[in-house]
Amino acid sequence: MQVIQTRDYENLSEKVAGIIFDQLKGQPDSTLGLATGSTPVGTYQLLKKQPEHFIEATTFNLDEYVGLKESHPQSYRYFMQEKLFNTVPVKASYIPNGSATDLQEECKLYEQKIQASGGIDLQLLGLGMNGHIGFNEPGTPFDSRTHVVELAESTRQANARFFNHLDEVPTQAITMGIETIMEAKKIVLLVSGNEKVQAFDRLFRGEIEEKFPASILRTHPNITVVHDL
Ligand code: GLP
Repeated sequence: MQVIQTRDYENLSEKVAGIIFDQLKGQPDSTLGLATGSTPVGTYQLLKKQPEHFIEATTFNLDEYVGLKESHPQSYRYFMQEKLFNTVPVKASYIPNGSATDLQEECKLYEQKIQASGGIDLQLLGLGMNGHIGFNEPGTPFDSRTHVVELAESTRQANARFFNHLDEVPTQAITMGIETIMEAKKIVLLVSGNEKVQAFDRLFRGEIEEKFPASILRTHPNITVVHDL
């Protein structure tokens, strides 16, 4: 596990954008795994400055809420469009369809698409305060694949800041599973802000256990943690 401590959020975003540009310079047709949440936003702003690197890249997002249309401002499809894809012309971008009529089938198809693209070369990840990665909440089996999850109340509350009211936060989501994430050839975990200090500590010092999903990342052969704590 490589750990990069940065001065501040701006510096963190520069480092992560640098890692992504290096990946694409070495392998322009890389498959990138992307994350939402507030942490990667600064990175995406920097990626927008050099969109030419992305023409051959394929992207897969980690997760999506169930029940929000793509046009809903809090859907992750909308978020990614605003934060990245409106300027960065990737070859193809995949996000689970949380409005699919058959959600189980959608999960299966998503896994197949990842496999068909040759697997994820570089996966960006944020860290939930309860240790969730993607939307894999505490207790999710380490061998899980893309699946539908019931969101933890604490996650809904943490994400309520983006909605008008807690009641509007969906109760379910589709997320890549922990095993799906762990199959990425390289992982870059972004951790920013004081509210993540406890989770960050537990990541390094706690047990590797399903109660704290991010703990499994310690066993990944090629992971870089970039933080500003
Ligand atoms: C959200 C997302 C995760 C994200 C995490 C942290 O619920 N589903 O993919 O990494 O929570 O978000 P933030 O970066 O805003 O702290």
